[in-house]
Amino acid sequence: MRLSFVLNGEPVSIQVQPNTRLIEVLRKDFALTGARPGCLYGTCGFCSILLNGELALSCMIPVFRVHNCEVTTIEGFMETREFRDIEIGFLRAGTVPCAFCASAKVLTTHWAITSHPTPSPADLKRAVAAVQCRCTSYGRYANAIRYSAEVRRKRLHGRGR
Ligand code: FES
Ligand code: FES
Repeated sequence: MRLSFVLNGEPVSIQVQPNTRLIEVLRKDFALTGARPGCLYGTCGFCSILLNGELALSCMIPVFRVHNCEVTTIEGFMETREFRDIEIGFLRAGTVPCAFCASAKVLTTHWAITSHPTPSPADLKRAVAAVQCRCTSYGRYANAIRYSAEVRRKRLHGRGR
């Protein structure tokens, strides 16, 4: 099956078995390795990407579903101004994600603060739970999301609080 979609802002077209997992296509056909294969059954969150701007698990998406859609991986997201908000937020919280979870945490944070610009404790809990990292404290990761939201609000509206 030939599929066309927008990948990190560029139109792409590929001949592929329609049920191939999106994560495999990203990693093997496009050499985009930021989305990590963890559990491969929709639990760990390490394979997160943005699909039409929404957080999505690329291990659970058969590639035919992205036909005519917009896919953003961490490689594309890092080129955006939005990425910088999150970079600053994480630095301010004093937490540096490891190479395995960084892409998922950054994209999850972006999704969380885009859908909830002033995240409530429940929003933070939901966002932290989306990536199964056992080596960073809940408080640090939640602070990183909160600070990222402040940076984003300040950039967009001139006030962080
Ligand atoms: S690899 Fe674990 S949710 Fe996709
Ligand atoms: S899995 Fe990366 S910091 Fe915990």
